[in-house]
Amino acid sequence: FKTDFVKEARYTYLLKGLLNTVIIAFFAALMGVVIGFLIAVVRSNHDKTGHMKILNFICNIYLTVIRGTPTMVQLLIIYYVIFSSVHIDKLIVAILAFGINSGAYVAEIFRSGIMSIDNGQFEAARSLGLSYKTTMISVILPQAFKNVLPALANEFIVLLKETSISGYIGLNDLTRGGDIIRSITYDPMLPLIGVAIIYLVMVMGLSQLVKKLERRLRNNER
Ligand code: ARG
Repeated sequence: FKTDFVKEARYTYLLKGLLNTVIIAFFAALMGVVIGFLIAVVRSNHDKTGHMKILNFICNIYLTVIRGTPTMVQLLIIYYVIFSSVHIDKLIVAILAFGINSGAYVAEIFRSGIMSIDNGQFEAARSLGLSYKTTMISVILPQAFKNVLPALANEFIVLLKETSISGYIGLNDLTRGGDIIRSITYDPMLPLIGVAIIYLVMVMGLSQLVKKLERRLRNNER
C-alpha cells in the first residue's frame, strides 16, 4: 500500500508540472502574438512622423533589450525585482516573462512576413481606393501570415521548451517535476528521460498541427 501511495504521489509531480508548462506556454504564446503583431504593424508603417516616430522608438528599445538579454535573466528580474514586493502567482509572472520575451521574436517574424509581400500589392490596393487599414487587413496580412507560418511554428516550439527554466523562480513546471522525482528517488534516468519524451511528443504534436494548417492555407490559394 505504501509504495503505491508514493508512486502515485510521484507521477503527480509530472502531471501538475505538465499542466503548468502547458498553461505558461499557451498564454505566453497568445501574449507574444498580440505584442508581436502590434509592434510589427508599427514598425512596418512607412509613416515615420509624429506619434509614429515615438512609437517606433519605443518598439526598437523593447526589441533591443529583450533580444539582447537571456530569457532566464529576464524571468529572474521580473520575479525578483519587478514583482518583489507584490504577492503574485508565479504562473502569472512566468506567463508575463515568456510572453514579453516571445513578443520581441514574433514582432520580427511578422515584420519579415509583411515585408515579404511585394510593394505592388500595396500600391495596387491603394490605387483601387482601399484605405491603409483595409489594405493591411484584407490584402497584406492574410498573405503575410501564410509566409510566416513556419517561422511562427518554430517560435512556439522554442517558447514551449524555454518554459523549462521556470523552475528558477520556484515554479513547478514539467522539468522541475522530473527533477524533484530524480531527487526523491535517486534515479535520474527514468524521470529525466520521461520529461524529455513528454516535451518531444508535445513539440511533434505542435509541428503536425501547423503542417495541417499550412496545407489548408495552401489549398485555399487559387
Ligand atoms: N535561450 C535563449 C535566450 O535566453 C534563446 C531564447 C529564444 N527565445 C525565443 N522565444 N525565440 O535568449
